[in-house]
Amino acid sequence: MADQRVVELFDEFMEMVKDFIVRHRLQYEDYAAVTRYLVRVSEAGEWPLWMDNFLEATVDTTSYGEGPWTPSAIEGPYYKPGAPLLSRQPYTLPMRPDEAGDKMLFKASVRNPAGEPLPAAVIDVWHATDKGLYSFIDAGMPDDFILRARVPVDEDGTTAFRSIRPAPYEIPKNGPTGDLLNSVLGRHTWRPAHLHFRITAEGYKPLVTQLYFEGDPYLDSDCAEGVKQGLIIPLSKTDVDGDSWTHGEFTFVLQPQ
Ligand code: BEZ
Ligand code: FE
Repeated sequence: MADQRVVELFDEFMEMVKDFIVRHRLQYEDYAAVTRYLVRVSEAGEWPLWMDNFLEATVDTTSYGEGPWTPSAIEGPYYKPGAPLLSRQPYTLPMRPDEAGDKMLFKASVRNPAGEPLPAAVIDVWHATDKGLYSFIDAGMPDDFILRARVPVDEDGTTAFRSIRPAPYEIPKNGPTGDLLNSVLGRHTWRPAHLHFRITAEGYKPLVTQLYFEGDPYLDSDCAEGVKQGLIIPLSKTDVDGDSWTHGEFTFVLQPQ
């Protein structure tokens, strides 16, 4: 049996596209160019990247909803479930032995809209290296949970983890997604540096979000249009074991289920 919602959405979507073709009097060469481009995206395996770059930010605006909680943000195509749950303090994201980059201490607090701590929350965090590369994804990075972990929260709803400060991330520029952004649209292929989070706590909607850093050159031109004002944080310096580390902190507020 046909799913009525799917039928209605498909019909409306096709009407929209047909109307667009007529309005712009598209010709066979346009049709052939679009077909060739779609085949290229398929052959390059870039559909998840393409969708998340051009459309996920809009789906995000219709999904989590705004309220007295932390804004959600796009998940992007690089989340890997099953990251190790850290148990030994000080919590430290898994890294390669020679992991380059500014050492970073990140402090987090997880609360509900009434300001009460959520001690049973778990913070699944993932981010790129200081060269902007993701484990499992980029050539030269291991297929392992590097700079990815689940961080528990203490009784008072706070936690902290150690990592390195990620660099801005450039999406693959040599494939059809990058080609469209760079050569056809005259934009660029950069996202501002960011930390990804997926925060869960029983009785609350999972919060998928990102944090960006003040002063980043790509905050106003994120190729994936994922930046939200409430998610840009200052970074400072703090003393850790006698060394000066980059320091960030944030209070995450979860939306009740
Ligand atoms: C990311 O956040 O890493 C990302 C988002 C959209 C497209 C590609 C990457
Ligand atoms: Fe990312």
